[in-house]
Amino acid sequence: RRFLLSQHHLPRLSSAALFMAKLTVNDLDLQGKRVFSRVDYNVPMAEQDGAMAINDETRIRATLPTLKVMVGKGAKVILTAHLGRPKGERIGTMSLRPVTKKLSELIGQPVAFCDQCVGDSVTEAVTHMKNGDLLLLENVRYHAEEEANDPTFSEQLAAHADVYVNDAFGAAHRAHASTNGVAKVITARGGQCAAGLLMERELQFLGDELEEPERPFVVILGGAKVSDKIKVIDRLLEKADTILIGGAMAYTFKLAKGLTVGKSLVEPDMVNVAQAALDKAIKRGVKFLLPTDNLVAEPTELAGKFAFGDHRINDSENIPDNVEGVDIGPKSVESFSEAIKGAKTILWNGPMGIFEDPRFAKGTFCVAKAVCEATADGATSIIGGGDSVKALNKAGLGDQVTFMSTGGGASLEFLEGKELPGVSAL
Ligand code: 3PG
Repeated sequence: RRFLLSQHHLPRLSSAALFMAKLTVNDLDLQGKRVFSRVDYNVPMAEQDGAMAINDETRIRATLPTLKVMVGKGAKVILTAHLGRPKGERIGTMSLRPVTKKLSELIGQPVAFCDQCVGDSVTEAVTHMKNGDLLLLENVRYHAEEEANDPTFSEQLAAHADVYVNDAFGAAHRAHASTNGVAKVITARGGQCAAGLLMERELQFLGDELEEPERPFVVILGGAKVSDKIKVIDRLLEKADTILIGGAMAYTFKLAKGLTVGKSLVEPDMVNVAQAALDKAIKRGVKFLLPTDNLVAEPTELAGKFAFGDHRINDSENIPDNVEGVDIGPKSVESFSEAIKGAKTILWNGPMGIFEDPRFAKGTFCVAKAVCEATADGATSIIGGGDSVKALNKAGLGDQVTFMSTGGGASLEFLEGKELPGVSAL
């Protein structure tokens, strides 16, 4: 079975060129084959009793369907991933070893670990593999050649591989050796390269589902900076019926509208860009909602550290001089929830306020609830990764949406319409 990856982000191509067929792991005969599989196990870890413990296993769980297919087909599965940004150095706290135990528990079979990702010890470990075995290699970013997409390093990584399967959507925006270079090496040798099932789902939901969305299509965008999201906003202004803006980036839009923002976080150099987006929304008839009220707090110092003083509702579009906006207010929650209620397709990326602080989490959690209710009523809800996924999980609502992306930067770049090097190499 092949799936169609829409290249909707290349609007000037002819429609025949807009679709490219990609192989998935389901298409491959893997009996006895050595599969080099890139996964995204860049999971949050913290030190606990002298060892590193995994705080969130979502990304590990997300690879299980692909791993089960490969194991079931009798492949020898060699897993490669990165953890953190060790920049070519062997940093102990960034070892992937703790993932081995967790993965083994989740998949219900032993997972071997090799403390190198290239060289003799990998050769040795692969030689001993039987069909259906899993082997996890050490952090590929312990080698600077990984991020440099070094061709010799790609050859070394591919040395034991017959086939390449990329399931690391979260790292697909990086043109690195394990996400891009290896695919080229294996293709040049006449070997097959395919997407894993997670990669396929990510591209379907963030790509194909949003190509012709069922309407009304409501987009909810939050987060700190207009500059991080403006390309996504610009692109979605061509697709969405309604765009709801929360988080600190709303204050830059308020500035563009001539409103006062007090001490709120703003990007003065993005005011013109925000204004252009507001103009485009009017021109295209897209409803563009900003918060009409906010939760505000006075930024102060407590024992030499930054802190927020008392918070209150500011029932006005204008924010007074001495306070900072920290969340959307109750009226905005109501109007945003109303817009979400009628949606048939929802895309959400970014929190409405500083949700990590329970005092300022209400707006984000209410939006999360509204998204889940709309989903229960039949809407397709797609959560574009990063902080909105964290917020949904924190609210215990992670299983009540249609799809949560495992990508942070990768989802954003894909939604912007950029070609992802990890996808184009397949
Ligand atoms: C992520 O966590 O977003 C991915 O694993 C990519 O990590 P990176 O931003 O360090 O490349």
